[in-house]
Amino acid sequence: MVLVLDFGSQYTRLIARRLRELRAFSLILPGDAPLEEVLRHNPKALILSGGPRSVFEPNAPRPDPRVFALGLPVLGICYGMQLLAQELGGRVERAGRAEYGKALLTRYQGPLFRGIEGEVQVWMSHADAVTELPPGWRVSASTEENPVAAMEAEDGKAFGVQFHPEVAHTPKGMQILENFLEIAHVPRDWTPEHILESLLKEVRDRVGKDRVLLAVSGGVDSSTLALLLARAGVDHLAVFVDHGLLRLGEREEVEGALKALGVNLRVVDAKERFLKALKGVEDPEEKRKVIGRAFVEVFSQVAREEGPFRFLAQGTLYPDVIESAGEKGAAKIKSHHNVGGLPEDLSFELLEPFRLLFKDEVRELALLLGLPDPLRLRHPFPGPGLAVRILGEVTEERLEVLRRADDIFVSLLKEWGLYEKVAQALAVLTPVRSVGVAGDERKYGYVLALRAVTTEDFMTADWARLPLEFLDEVARRITRRVPEVGRVVYDITSKPPATIEWE
Ligand code: XMP
Repeated sequence: MVLVLDFGSQYTRLIARRLRELRAFSLILPGDAPLEEVLRHNPKALILSGGPRSVFEPNAPRPDPRVFALGLPVLGICYGMQLLAQELGGRVERAGRAEYGKALLTRYQGPLFRGIEGEVQVWMSHADAVTELPPGWRVSASTEENPVAAMEAEDGKAFGVQFHPEVAHTPKGMQILENFLEIAHVPRDWTPEHILESLLKEVRDRVGKDRVLLAVSGGVDSSTLALLLARAGVDHLAVFVDHGLLRLGEREEVEGALKALGVNLRVVDAKERFLKALKGVEDPEEKRKVIGRAFVEVFSQVAREEGPFRFLAQGTLYPDVIESAGEKGAAKIKSHHNVGGLPEDLSFELLEPFRLLFKDEVRELALLLGLPDPLRLRHPFPGPGLAVRILGEVTEERLEVLRRADDIFVSLLKEWGLYEKVAQALAVLTPVRSVGVAGDERKYGYVLALRAVTTEDFMTADWARLPLEFLDEVARRITRRVPEVGRVVYDITSKPPATIEWE
């Protein structure tokens, strides 16, 4: 495996993801992880990530110095290259001019660039530059602005690149990373089949004859987890709480698919309870809290009725793990609802088979496990469901209106082949009513907003440039078939400053 030492770059996760796309297992550790921790993972190679600091700042993050003495193949990216230069006896200085954005390599050579020909565009983002190489190193690429755009050690095992090979704006970046893996003799065995096999073994070994409880939402993570438990043949119960805030036909779709694939599923109809708890609640955070509490109550009741269970399985993913391990905590914008906060008398051991996986890898597993495409390729849907897409009070009538409008939007996206081109699409029912005409009559209908975004990670997002003809058809169909809606608007705000959901 390859260890990525993180010095705070916004692209660190992307490095690990790219290596996994190249079928090399990789993990991220804090940049200053002590040698013992690095060794515990038995890495074949190290990558030092970029970062926002300057290597000559006091307290700039740096690796345990003993890490350099390991003699492992190493690739320093941006700040990582500057660390190598400084630690190994070269010099880093503030560049005369910062280099941001696209640049062309004016020359390049050496094993890191093997197989690459012609024009090489790279993505730069740095204000410091290597001005003197460490002894025993040579320049392996330059740009017009920067004579040391890449460097390599004469022993052929250590490399630095000032640009970011992991981003899409460096089109040949994957080849560069692949070359590094070859040089370092990193095995390329991280395939979906291999992942599935090792997860099945892990689950069987850990669970044995004990029982596992899990909550499924219909999202790809929890559905795939349920399928994994079913395939592993362990004694499990998957609980799907229908809180009445689901989309049209959603419950039936999830129920049908999971049961057909051997999941022991119990669907709990708790619509009335949730709607009652939401009566009169208008504040978005309050809604989330009310729903979270009701969810825990319903889930705990099932756990008691059907228990005891030794394990609670959760679809925690690697990015969540990295975050809770103390990546500079992002400010809490919204409280997210999941199975946290269970009462104390219900204690479980957590089973988190996906804790080292990225979302794309879970989707690949889902494919192997036979999850039908509509569920596997489904956009994310928030735990509190349509409640956070109805501004103001949630009522049965509003839910009904939103469900029909949302279904038209999503069905048309699929018909037009646009569904998979956007990361998430949704309809929002506002409490605003506006004036319109229907025949000779004055009409007073809801304002419904459509939102579709493109994004890599849902932390930032851009509004999707959907074709105008498409939006036209959606608006016509919604106002025709859902007469309660008087006006349809399209949200053209990116995140930030807006969030993806409206509440
Ligand atoms: P925002 O609106 O914060 O959403 O830009 C980012 C992503 O998170 C989803 N989301 C939630 N998911 N419980 C969830 O399980 C929640 O309370 C919640 N709020 C937002 C949202 O749909 C988007 O994919």
